[in-house]
Amino acid sequence: MYNITVVGTGYVGLVTGACLADFGNNVTCVDSDAAKIERMKALELPFFEPGLPEIVERNFNEGRLHFTSDLATAVRNSKVVFITVGTPPRADGSADTSAIYAVAKIVAQNLNGYKLVIQKSTAPVGTARDLYRHMSKYAKKGAKFDVASNPEFLREGSALETSMRPDRVVIGAESKEAESILRKIHEPLFLIETPMIVTSLETAELIKYASNCFLATKISFINEMANLCEALGADVQMVAKGLGMDRRIGPKFLHAGPGYGGSCFPKDTHALSAFAKKAKVKSGIVDAVIAANDHQMTRMVDKICNSIGAPRGKKVAVLGLSFKPNTDDLREAPALYIIEGLKKRGVKVVAFDPISMRKAEELPQLKNVEFGADAYDAARGAHAVAIITEWNEFRGMELSRLKRVMKKPVLCDLRNLYKRDQVEAAGFEYVGVGKGVPAGLTKKKPAKRASKKA
Ligand code: UDX
Repeated sequence: MYNITVVGTGYVGLVTGACLADFGNNVTCVDSDAAKIERMKALELPFFEPGLPEIVERNFNEGRLHFTSDLATAVRNSKVVFITVGTPPRADGSADTSAIYAVAKIVAQNLNGYKLVIQKSTAPVGTARDLYRHMSKYAKKGAKFDVASNPEFLREGSALETSMRPDRVVIGAESKEAESILRKIHEPLFLIETPMIVTSLETAELIKYASNCFLATKISFINEMANLCEALGADVQMVAKGLGMDRRIGPKFLHAGPGYGGSCFPKDTHALSAFAKKAKVKSGIVDAVIAANDHQMTRMVDKICNSIGAPRGKKVAVLGLSFKPNTDDLREAPALYIIEGLKKRGVKVVAFDPISMRKAEELPQLKNVEFGADAYDAARGAHAVAIITEWNEFRGMELSRLKRVMKKPVLCDLRNLYKRDQVEAAGFEYVGVGKGVPAGLTKKKPAKRASKKA
């Protein structure tokens, strides 16, 4: 067991710190935001993540998890330092790694014995090796340290599960000592036979980007198929099913929808494209994925607007704001982009989200948006309801109740949660994603609407 400092208490840092403490290590979580640290000492966490409050509270009360903003002292008391600070995108799409370098400098100035610095923030390939050079400039002569890379693959909303039972552990380490410490830290995962890859720094860093870009590619691919399905009268859910049965492809990440969002895919695809450009390597696939995702979100705005006729002055209830369920994270959420698009077309938006509304109210983009107390309240007087995030409570809505409060019964189901027949039987017009209607079958309602408008 080690004395470990984890720098940065965002999703990755706090989850990593809590899990390492739960494995029996003595962990100090550091953040430069002193007010945030004080709140965490009072067990108020900065974001919503199922199961995290319990594990933080247990380890804090049992004395294995500490919070401080004094980085230097924490470093001096630790053998291992995880860097998990943010790497936000710059205007050109590249990752801003300045926070990592600032932390590494302080670590270098406080080396009082061998320390292992583990770079866990997602940062461009080459960062870990460059950090070693950077730290050498500030470290006392003869000070011993290593820099390793240990990318995270946690999924928000199921962060504990993905950290405690990961598909694999990736370690970039180039000294015996660094490798052995990282193996020891991950020992509890060997009991559940988690596979581990030990490789060079650059390879470990690229595995992270390649994984996220590949997943984003899968999503953009199925979204493109969905658009084809709509034009050709096919059903994307069946296409995904048939496609996913091929074991080389696999069934996961083939859900068509409004486009991906969140703190990882948008940022990491742009970052890969930026460092590929710098390396003078063409990243045509990833570039196309980025463009396809932007296009998909725009398509969703058109889809909703088409379903309500002339959009100006009409009211749309948006259900779900966070980029996926079980999180209150609004970063790059498709809902924000879609709402902005609707507002530009003169649509009045009323939104509801089970968890992220308080955060949403603070966003400048949502200034003119009203919020409902629940789905039915948001839908009152609406010309369409648009489900953007697949929270469980939107899966089983009482359609008759929804219809009663709406002005026009139109359901834009951007996550394909409902069956067309069921929704149409309840008297709604149904709009899904990639749910084309074969030419032989009559497309009753949309045809009527179109002729009315004409
Ligand atoms: C992702 C990766 O899964 C994780 O391994 C990585 O380390 C960080 O990025 P996360 O951003 O938490 O995790 O969310 P994820 O569940 O992967 O979803 C990302 C986005 O893709 C969401 O907006 C989601 O709605 C969308 N998505 C996902 C789809 O539109 N269709 C799918 O089939 C799957």
